[in-house]
Amino acid sequence: MKQIATMLDDSPALLEEKIAAQQQQAGYAMDPYFYRSQRVYERELERILYRGWLYAAHVSQLPEPGDYIQFELGEDAIIICRDEAGEIHALMNICRHRGARVCQEQHGNRKTFVCPYHGWVYELDGSLKAARAMEALEGFDRADYGLKHARCCVYQGLVFINCAADAADFEPALDTIAEALRPYDLPNAKVAHSQVYQVDANWKLALENYLECYHCATAHRAYAKMHSIQDVEDRISDLTEAMLARAVAQTGVNGITLNHYQAYSASTEFGADVYHSRYALYDGFLTGSDGGQPVAPLMGQFTGYDGGAGDFQLGPLCFMLNYPDHCVLYRFTPRGITATDMEIVWFVRGDAEEGRDYDRDALTWLWHHTTLEDEFIITRNSAGVNSHFFEPGPYNPAYEHLCVDFVNWYLQALSSPG
Ligand code: FES
Ligand SMILES: [Fe+2]
Repeated sequence: MKQIATMLDDSPALLEEKIAAQQQQAGYAMDPYFYRSQRVYERELERILYRGWLYAAHVSQLPEPGDYIQFELGEDAIIICRDEAGEIHALMNICRHRGARVCQEQHGNRKTFVCPYHGWVYELDGSLKAARAMEALEGFDRADYGLKHARCCVYQGLVFINCAADAADFEPALDTIAEALRPYDLPNAKVAHSQVYQVDANWKLALENYLECYHCATAHRAYAKMHSIQDVEDRISDLTEAMLARAVAQTGVNGITLNHYQAYSASTEFGADVYHSRYALYDGFLTGSDGGQPVAPLMGQFTGYDGGAGDFQLGPLCFMLNYPDHCVLYRFTPRGITATDMEIVWFVRGDAEEGRDYDRDALTWLWHHTTLEDEFIITRNSAGVNSHFFEPGPYNPAYEHLCVDFVNWYLQALSSPG
């Protein structure tokens, strides 16, 4: 993580003052305070990151009872594991005795979780199975000391978690885009590759970069050559309409043209953001690859290519860009005020075999290179934003309206009661 000068004069009053001032600056990039303050980061964890639905895993990563992977967030670690009955749980990796991590590896298979400190033993559903010699404490009841749970939502093969016990369910929001997501058959898809890109930048700079394509023409030459989203809507409306008109017939998928936006300010429940729209690739391109030609067998129910791609949001920090032959999931995870993990997961059909049906380098080429380009511009953005003389400029209303929406929502969330 890149070190920046600390803000010695930071205070709760300054935070409130900055939020109010930023709300008066609608349409402008954020004051650097929001990218530099530890107090802001702590508030974000409390009000946003621990209260939003976050992508944690794909079911194929947990096929057997006892399989687990860890998801780290802030200073916390959450174990996503499958119990003997097949149910998936999200368990806080904090021993209920004196707080040691009960699970050390990032993934694996276990019958129980045994705390390395004094040996308390937890079942796969988090319940406390044994607590050595604790009969010495009168009235001690193991039932009171199971691992804490985060909320868990398994939807079409995707596992989401939420640390807030009182968070609204995610399913109703996801149901609003189900018909567009279902045809990819994600429960039976396979993770062909995943990669974490560590960026020396605040998570909001990384996210804002994802939310706008103003930079695509300048930063992403390969991407911009094939994806029409890099242009303003009225210039590509003919292309989009032609793609939407043929989409159902050519893909064989009903519901694929669904256009639905319930993210950030339009989200019906906090942290349960969803959107879907289908946008066109330029003529001659069928998928997101070098040259736009197919790189894997068709996903799920797809029977052909329409020259379109499905653009999804799944929770505040997760997105998918789904082509007929592969899906690309994008997740942002904050790692402190100046560090963010951008993770990409590439999905292919469950029965596709590497070497026979797809080539990993060809499959990942476009988004790997596009993300390296993003990493380059985001770190430059971070350096400029953190410099002493930075003064925020206006967002472009035609290209950067989602950033404006995000910032409005963010300020509201930051100022909401804890
Ligand atoms: S801290 Fe886990 S058994 Fe003591
Ligand atoms: Fe980009």
